[in-house]
Amino acid sequence: MQLLLLGFGIKSKLYANRRALGQTVAVLPDGKGGWFTSLRPDSIRRELEASLRNLETEYVDLYQFHDPDPATPIEESWSEMHRLVREGKVRYGGLSNHPVDLIGKAMKVGPVISNQVQYNPLERNVEREVLPFCLRSGVGVLGWGSLAEGFLSDDFDHDALDPKDFRRRHRFGQPENVAKITKLRQAFGRIATSLGKKIVHIVIAWELMNPALTGAIVGIRSEREAREMIGGVGVSLSHEDMHVIEAALRIWGH
Ligand SMILES: NC(=O)c1ccc[n+]([C@@H]2O[C@H](COP(=O)([O-])OP(=O)(O)OC[C@H]3O[C@@H](n4cnc5c(N)ncnc54)[C@H](OP(=O)(O)O)[C@@H]3O)[C@@H](O)[C@H]2O)c1
Repeated sequence: MQLLLLGFGIKSKLYANRRALGQTVAVLPDGKGGWFTSLRPDSIRRELEASLRNLETEYVDLYQFHDPDPATPIEESWSEMHRLVREGKVRYGGLSNHPVDLIGKAMKVGPVISNQVQYNPLERNVEREVLPFCLRSGVGVLGWGSLAEGFLSDDFDHDALDPKDFRRRHRFGQPENVAKITKLRQAFGRIATSLGKKIVHIVIAWELMNPALTGAIVGIRSEREAREMIGGVGVSLSHEDMHVIEAALRIWGH
């Protein structure tokens, strides 16, 4: 079954649908306005217990580590995850942004249910190793940044962004890339029109056509965006549509 997950909030890293409650852990404020990653066992447990209190729940369905922590062996972190599973505080443990070698090491300690990775038509690096590995190994994949931070949404207008919006400084926001992405949106738009759908629906449908993808996380910012996304549930693309998109993506170097 494929899922469309709607992401609520960036810093809270909390996302939910009717049946599942999950969160990612590891990125902590460093007290100097920055962030650091910790997957030390005591930190994993402390953050989970704080979340259980905040959420007024006894367990989370899915607890995912955020970025890898180079200072802590994954075996130590993953052993703690499985202690939390055995204690009933977590139903399933997952990772995020972890490469194949770390997923493999974690799997030797205990099951890895998911890996959350950046995936959209403009960011396809995971297609090389991570997605095939996850598919072969039975690890579910949740894609983040599914709308390329909004660059692949219907009404995206780079010039109209607030001066402080991070997308003004984003790699995709450089003039040559804005021009290419505008052309790509037009290609997605032609397919959307032919199916009576929106560009955002076609972008998500393209992602979910990858057999490794279990779900696509969308960072909705308003009720309107949430309602709009729901209109795309169940859209699937024909081989011809996929071929047209693949051809259009050559402009982006894919
Ligand atoms: N694991 C990780 O390392 C990691 C990293 C980043 C994010 N995430 C997760 O992934 C989620 C999604 O990522 P994201 O928020 O960075 O990127 P995203 O889903 O690619 O894009 C979010 C942007 O898309 C636009 N949007 C959403 N729904 C829309 C709709 N129906 N119509 C038009 N525009 C729409 C909004 O733009 P406007 O602001 O212009 O309305 C929003 O800012 C986050 O909420 C977070 O939970 C995980």
